[in-house]
Amino acid sequence: MTAQKTLLRALAGERLPTPPIWMMRQAGRYLPEYRATRAEAGDFLSLCYNPELATEVTLQPIRRYGFDAAILFADILLLPQALGADLWFVTGEGPRLSTITTEAEMAPLKGKDDIHGHLAPVYETVARLSEALPKETALIGFAGAPWTVATYMIAGRGTPDQGPAHALKSENRPLFEALLDLLTEATVEYLARQVEAGAETVKIFDSWAGSLQGEDFVKYAVEPARRITAALKERHPDLPVIAFPRGAGERYAGLHAEIGAECIALDDGVTADWAAAHVQTGGCVQGNLASSHMVTGGEALVEETRAIVRAFSKGPHIFNLGHGITPDADPENVALMIETVRSPVPA
Ligand code: CP3
Repeated sequence: MTAQKTLLRALAGERLPTPPIWMMRQAGRYLPEYRATRAEAGDFLSLCYNPELATEVTLQPIRRYGFDAAILFADILLLPQALGADLWFVTGEGPRLSTITTEAEMAPLKGKDDIHGHLAPVYETVARLSEALPKETALIGFAGAPWTVATYMIAGRGTPDQGPAHALKSENRPLFEALLDLLTEATVEYLARQVEAGAETVKIFDSWAGSLQGEDFVKYAVEPARRITAALKERHPDLPVIAFPRGAGERYAGLHAEIGAECIALDDGVTADWAAAHVQTGGCVQGNLASSHMVTGGEALVEETRAIVRAFSKGPHIFNLGHGITPDADPENVALMIETVRSPVPA
């Protein structure tokens, strides 16, 4: 009875007395059991491509906390790797990739339909999770949004201001747009396979959407998300979609309709009161407790959690952080957040 899962009910537009809750990066380094399994796998990418261990780390936060949803354990950069980019992680620094800045570097990339052999272990993880999860826990698949993935592919690493991607966009727009088109089409194929393997909703992570200005935000953040959503719904009409254009600010208003997504995920750059008035009017929202509360805890965590629950209590809401939980977070603070969300809010 899939329709009974609280996360899916919220995505269908239902206002629930207690919002369903999950957390970005809930399987991550703040958990000792995650660190142990990652050590067993050897490194982060080996963990991502090991269906048995990736399933195990996805389930760890479900067992420990009873979250209402599990998110597939993988990374947004597995897709560029499937397209032929080199990918590795430098401990303590982050991802490194071979760069795409010229037609000659773009040419060897594979086509949208040639990714599935490489990504088969990810689909296997989804299938295992769909069997292993408690019946009340929803399974979320995901991919990076084309712009965010392109920022890593163009620069070959994470960058504070996405400078190299903005530079390619102004210096060689046809190449930039060809890369975004390839990523848009490949993302549709990738997410469709996750859905066929058992993902009940998918989330599109556009972590760097906020650095796109003016018409660029519409063309390179909104439009690819709209195309991916529409193409997925053509194949899977009942699939709910969560879009996360992080840093959109006031541009969050109206995005449900512009993207065609059931849910817009909010970062903590907007207040819950503003978002309730201007975004939640369009459908379900997800968010948006500052992840720093998972480090600092205490009364401020409780107060802010209650304020967010209260602000969004008149419409469909999924409780989450505004961004991923950080490795220095205290697992006890996660328990406190969940307990606060699930206790009746004093008047
Ligand atoms: O949320 C989840 O628990 C699901 C798994 C997940 C990971 N990454 C695991 C991960 C998801 C949904 C992502 C998304 C992702 N990956 C994004 C978009 C969301 C965001 O955070 O803005 C981005 C930009 C990436 C790329 C990426 N992966 C970076 C920049 C890094 C290094 C930075 C860091 O936090 O260390 C990663 C590594 C990564 N992805 C880790 C995890 C658990 C840490 C790896 C480790 O165990 O050392």
